Amino acid sequence: MLTKEYVREVKTEYADGIKQLIREFHDGGSISFILENLGRLPKDFDGSFLPDLLKHKSVNVRLWAVKTIGKLANEEYIPILKEVMQYEQDTSVRRETVSSIGRMRNPKTKEILFNILDDKDPKIVCQAVRGLLVFKGDKDVNEILQKLIIHENEMVRSIIHKEYFAKNKDFSLQPHSESFDYLRNVVIHGDTIEIMKLLNDESIHLTFTSPPYYNARDYSIYPSYKNYLEFLAEVFKEVHRITKEGRFLVLNTSPIIIPRISRAHSSKRYPIPFDIHPYLMEMGWEFIDDIVWLKPESSVKNRIGGFMQHRKPLGYKPNSITEYLMVYRKSTDKLLDWNIKQYDWSNIQESKVPDGYETNNVWKIDPCFNKNHSAVFPVELCKRVISYYSYNNDLVFDPFGGSGTVGKTAKLLNRYFLLTEIDDKYFNYMKSKKSNDIFDQHPTKFLNLNEFKQSIK
Ligand SMILES: C[S@@+](CC[C@H](N)C(=O)[O-])C[C@H]1O[C@@H](n2cnc3c(N)ncnc32)[C@H](O)[C@@H]1O
Repeated sequence: MLTKEYVREVKTEYADGIKQLIREFHDGGSISFILENLGRLPKDFDGSFLPDLLKHKSVNVRLWAVKTIGKLANEEYIPILKEVMQYEQDTSVRRETVSSIGRMRNPKTKEILFNILDDKDPKIVCQAVRGLLVFKGDKDVNEILQKLIIHENEMVRSIIHKEYFAKNKDFSLQPHSESFDYLRNVVIHGDTIEIMKLLNDESIHLTFTSPPYYNARDYSIYPSYKNYLEFLAEVFKEVHRITKEGRFLVLNTSPIIIPRISRAHSSKRYPIPFDIHPYLMEMGWEFIDDIVWLKPESSVKNRIGGFMQHRKPLGYKPNSITEYLMVYRKSTDKLLDWNIKQYDWSNIQESKVPDGYETNNVWKIDPCFNKNHSAVFPVELCKRVISYYSYNNDLVFDPFGGSGTVGKTAKLLNRYFLLTEIDDKYFNYMKSKKSNDIFDQHPTKFLNLNEFKQSIK
C-alpha cells in the first residue's frame, strides 16, 4: 500500500526508486500522492520520468511534476519548463511553472522570465518578478523591472515600489514605540481637525473612533451627505499624517437611516462605511479587516414591525443588529514584524493578548446606554480593539471623544490616550465627577485649544 513513509523510504533507498514506483502505481491519484509526499530530494534523484508527466491529463499530476522539477534546480529542465509556458492552459500549473523557473536561480532563466512579464495573469507576473529579483543589481534586470512601476496591476506596482523606489523616509521625531509627553492622557476641547493640525507627523500609535452619524443626532448636522463624507475624509487624512508608520485605524460606523418627512416621502438610508472606504484607500490607508459588531435584536430599533403585518415583498426591512469595525493600516513597505520589533522584549511579553480573545470577525457585544451621551462605546469593544491593535504604553487616539470610553479603557490597559471633543456638554461631562472612574484615578489634563497650544511649547 502507498503510504507517506513508504514513498520517503523508496526515495532515499534508490536513486530511481520513485521512477519505478510510478511505473507500478500509474493512476493519476497515486502519482500525485507520490510526488506530493516526496519532500526534499536527494542529490542523485533520478527525475527522468518527470517530463513525460507534464502532459498528463490530470492537472494535479502536471502541477506536482512541475513543482518537483523546480526542486531539482537542474538547468537541463529550463527549456522544458519554457515550453510548458507555451502550451499549458491551466492557471495553477502555469503559476507553478514560473515559480519553478524562478526557483532555479539560474541566469539562463532571465530571458524566459523577461518574456513572462507580459503575461496577462498578474500572479504570474509577480512570480516572474520574484524570480528576477534574485538577480537584482544586474543592469538589464533592474532596467526592465523598474519599468513595471507603471504596471496596470497594483500588486506588481507595490513589489516594484518596495524593491526600487521606497525611500527610507523617517518623518518621526522619536523612536516608534514612544510618544510625546504633552499628548499623553490629554482631553482637548475643540474641533479635531484644528487640533490635529498642531500635531507632529507620526505622533500616535492607534486610532479607534466612532464618527458623528450623518445628521442622525443633534451634534452632527451637515449641509449634505457629500459635505459630511468630505469632513470625515479630512479628519482621516490628518489621522493618517499623525499616525506612526504601519499603525492602525479602527473605524466604527454603520449605515444610517434618515426618517421620511411625511407619509408621501420615503426614508433614506446612507451606507457610510462603504462610502467612506474609497476615500480612505485613496489617502493611503490599507484595508486590513472588516469586523462585525453584533448586537442583540432586542437592543435595536424595530423596523420589521410593518412587514410582520403585511408580508408584502419589496417592503421587507430587517432589523439592523450590526455595526462595522473597519480596520486599516497606514500603508508602508514595512512588514508588521518591523512594527513589532520596535518594542523591547519585556513590553512584547507584557502586551500579549490573554486567553479568551475573539477568533472570528463577528463580535457579539451588548450596546451600552449612557444618559449623558447618546452613542457611547461599550468598554468591552474598546478593550478588544485596544488590546489587539496596540502595545503597552502606546498612545491611543479618539478624535471624536464623546464620553471618553476609548480614553478610560486605554488607561485601564496601560496605554496612554489622547481625545478631542468639540461639544461643551461632553467635554464637561468627561471633566466632571460624574465621569468618575478612571479619569479621576489617573492624572488627566483637560485643555482648551489655547491651553493645548501653550502645552506644546
Ligand atoms: C459617536 S460620538 C462618539 C462617542 C464615543 N465613542 C463614546 O464612547 O462616548 C461622536 C462624538 O464626536 C463629537 N464631534 C463631532 N464633530 C467633532 C469635531 N469636529 N471635533 C471633535 N469632536 C467632534 C461629537 O460631539 C460626539 O460626542
